[in-house]
Amino acid sequence: MKADLIVGIQWGDEGKGKIVDLLAQKYDCVARYQGGHNAGHTIVVDDKTYALHLIPSGILNPKAINIIGNGVVVSPEALIKEMKQFDNLFGRLFVSESAHMILSFHTLIDQAKEKLRGEKAIGTTGRGIGPAYSEKIARAGFRLGELRDVEALANRVMEYLEQNSAIFQALDIKLPSKEELSAELTTFSEALVPFLANTTQMVWKLMDEDKKILLEGAQGTMLDIDHGTYPYVTSSSTISAGACTGLGVNPKDIGKVTGIVKAYCTRVGNGPFPTEDHGEIGGRLRKAGHEFGTTTGRPRRCGWFDAVACRYASRLNGCDELSIMKLDVLDGFETIDVCVGYEVNGEVIDYVPLDLENVKPVYKTFKGWDKTKGVRRFEDLPVAAQEYLRALEELTQTKIGMISTSPDRNDTIIL
Ligand code: GDP
Ligand code: IMO
Ligand code: MG
Repeated sequence: MKADLIVGIQWGDEGKGKIVDLLAQKYDCVARYQGGHNAGHTIVVDDKTYALHLIPSGILNPKAINIIGNGVVVSPEALIKEMKQFDNLFGRLFVSESAHMILSFHTLIDQAKEKLRGEKAIGTTGRGIGPAYSEKIARAGFRLGELRDVEALANRVMEYLEQNSAIFQALDIKLPSKEELSAELTTFSEALVPFLANTTQMVWKLMDEDKKILLEGAQGTMLDIDHGTYPYVTSSSTISAGACTGLGVNPKDIGKVTGIVKAYCTRVGNGPFPTEDHGEIGGRLRKAGHEFGTTTGRPRRCGWFDAVACRYASRLNGCDELSIMKLDVLDGFETIDVCVGYEVNGEVIDYVPLDLENVKPVYKTFKGWDKTKGVRRFEDLPVAAQEYLRALEELTQTKIGMISTSPDRNDTIIL
């Protein structure tokens, strides 16, 4: 059976965690394909809140198997910490033996380089994501499977640190001794080796057995290394195509693709964001949407829905449907704007150009509504909200499959 896929459409934090958790109830397996613990996925079930960073958002469904694929960069330290939140993960969580590790020096390099960038800082989460992926591509990375032989791994890491000592010195990074390193790797090995697997084979077997698999993306399309607002992006392929390399599924193995998108826009970290509002509207969206990062606690930048970027993302990912999240955050606005084009040098364009920094959004204004919070049927939404949603479908050329009206798993309209 083909695997279905969930992907972020904007700059991350669209509410992927909520939807993956909701859908996971009907899937046998949830598999993450990229990113690392830069991700923060919040799930709310019966007033209890869970924050996930590396563990797939299917973990709250006791019947689903959860896989961390080879395309994810795994901080053993972060994963071990996160695993402590849950009992009985053995047999429910599998981690690819070929996924690359984020070790402490990757994190220190990330933070040191951000400092050096000064005003041009990317605004990374400081979790070592960029350096771990860079070293993977440079063929100088360390894979989880190597934890099976700590002595050999420690030797290899020491060799790497020595080869790169000039860089570490220049960045003022203190390196561990061989003993410190070996002790740390031993802890990682004891905790994680029992969870390692050849996840590509696992996924193929599940597919051959007609099991239902949900592929879970982290971050969002506009943060994609190739198709996002480079260099203000993350270091992985966040789009649906990333699932092929990040899990070993082929393009024909992918079934339904659902794009997750907020009814407005947010971004955390630096870089272009055409509809950002620095004034009252942005502040109101931040307050109503509790727009503060799950991972770093930073306030998120906020603004109106960008239909041009969303149409672009929908095409890039091959979205069959969109899930519109956080509709309730727009409750009470008298009017609501949607960006329907970008003005560049006096001309209006309807596509995402290379330079998204210097575009001026062209807005279409919609009538606001009173309340959608907690509504569970489309017919029960205010007429103006229904009209807004229908307009989004038309502007993004993608049909809407789900609408979310509160953080709770159950406050979701399924069309
Ligand atoms: P993710 O990274 O895409 O999984 O999204 P995050 O979890 O980082 O951010 C989404 C936030 O919005 C979380 O705090 C969710 O609990 C919350 N949320 C999700 N759906 C809704 C919704 O429909 N309405 C409201 N008000 N909050 C929501
Ligand atoms: P989820 O999965 C929002 C952003 C950072 C920064 C840029 C690069 O919760 O949607 P990195 O640490 O990845 O090198 O930072 O990417 N970023 C996210 N923004 N949601 C995320 O994940 C993010 N993961 C990274 O803020 O701008
Ligand atoms: Mg998030």
